[in-house]
Amino acid sequence: MDFKGKRALVTGGSRGIGFAVVRSLLEAGARVAVNGRTPQSVSTAIGKLDGRDRLVAAPGDIGTVQGCERAVDTAVGAFGGLDVLVNSAGIGSGRPIEDSDEAMWDRHVDVNLKGTFFCCRAALPALRASSGNIVNIASDAGLMGVPGIVVYCASKGGVVNMTRAMAIEVAPDVRVNCVCPGYVDTDMIRRDHIERKDDPAAAEQRMIDYAPLKRITTPEEIAHSVLYLASFEARFVTGAALAIDGGTTAGH
Ligand SMILES: NC(=O)c1ccc[n+]([C@@H]2O[C@H](COP(=O)([O-])OP(=O)(O)OC[C@H]3O[C@@H](n4cnc5c(N)ncnc54)[C@H](O)[C@@H]3O)[C@@H](O)[C@H]2O)c1
Repeated sequence: MDFKGKRALVTGGSRGIGFAVVRSLLEAGARVAVNGRTPQSVSTAIGKLDGRDRLVAAPGDIGTVQGCERAVDTAVGAFGGLDVLVNSAGIGSGRPIEDSDEAMWDRHVDVNLKGTFFCCRAALPALRASSGNIVNIASDAGLMGVPGIVVYCASKGGVVNMTRAMAIEVAPDVRVNCVCPGYVDTDMIRRDHIERKDDPAAAEQRMIDYAPLKRITTPEEIAHSVLYLASFEARFVTGAALAIDGGTTAGH
């Protein structure tokens, strides 16, 4: 897939799936604005990449409208426009319903759902001008109910259906799609959902067994699907929720 001459912004590009998307877009020839919550996280990420002359730092807290607008304005200002917006900034923690409080609800919804919406809103004028597109990182937990992560499910279910509604509203100017990954080997999973468990090896094995294809996927595999949806090759694809989950949401 050829992204030469394309201008992209990746929220949550400092780590994990977002970082893999940044690297893949760079390798495919794009200029990329990298967002993370803090300037330090972004500069550390940029320091790990080749092709720095095609990279721009676009920090901003995606949990706030102001942070979304700052990140988008930085990217559009630096590149003189925008062709691709990838919304990967997100948080995910699990707690039983009775232990979930308002702060946890607000943080998940603010970053995962509200942030995705307001980045899209801020980027739309530039994306309409370029006939560009948006790829949101939702989750398999946005396509099905998963006990123990109800708040996360609510936020990601919102991202999936928002993607569909937005795709129709902004067509034919802009395409909007989302990717729904299963377990991906990133800090979110390894640090928060494996290493903090009483028996990390058993927790990891449960994740491996969760998918019919019997493994945890890599950020690079998710990045490939993002690049496909963002590419010219996917020019007739909009409103799609592409599951990259080893068959988990195909049914049990
Ligand atoms: N890892 C998985 O198994 C998995 C599965 C399905 C969906 N996802 C989704 O993929 C996306 C990326 O997750 P990941 O696994 O790479 O996690 P990660 O924790 O490795 O990375 C998350 C990224 O989001 C950024 N971020 C978090 N809060 C932010 C904020 N307020 N403002 C700006 N940036 C912020 C972080 O800086 C980081 O770059 C998330 O939306 C997550 O929900 C992950």
